[in-house]
Amino acid sequence: MIFALLIFNFPLIYSATDLQNQCNIPLSVYYGTSCLILHTELKRYNTAKIACNDILGYSGHLVHIRSLDYQPVIESLMNASSVLNAWIGTECYGTCTTASYSNWYYTTPTRKFEESATFIAWSATGMTGNSVAWQKGLKSTAIDPKTDYAFICEYGKTALTYAV
Ligand SMILES: *[C@@H]1O[C@H](CO)[C@@H](O)[C@H](O)[C@H]1NC(C)=O
Repeated sequence: MIFALLIFNFPLIYSATDLQNQCNIPLSVYYGTSCLILHTELKRYNTAKIACNDILGYSGHLVHIRSLDYQPVIESLMNASSVLNAWIGTECYGTCTTASYSNWYYTTPTRKFEESATFIAWSATGMTGNSVAWQKGLKSTAIDPKTDYAFICEYGKTALTYAV
């Protein structure tokens, strides 16, 4: 009997470390190979940027929205809460416009320039700052990072530690 229990428990112990299985808290969704989690608490951009620490062993960052396929995923999380605006992991360093990807980056907590942005789903509302928020039904707008907004974290499939 004890022997049978040990055999039965081993896969459960293993799956408890798997990102997909840990992606089961309220306002979370497993999408592609990432776990996305909407945080409803309001933070300035630079505080939100270092607040993605939901899943032990996985380095989180504000979500990198890489295609319009993310929109229904993001907005279903927003619909499940009262959140209308949420920070995402895209920022301008230098001089930026919504007409070009120059100087827009997918950022992480520890590096200033992580990866050049190759997709930004701009809304029609223009930009008033250098940090990007997703606005429900409107898509991405760059605004003042001192604004207090909810934020969306992303955890990748590997337990990645970013170089400083
Ligand atoms: C979110 O809610 C709006 C209505 O408020 C609806 O039009 C939209 O289809 C919903 N989106 C998703 C992805 O559920």
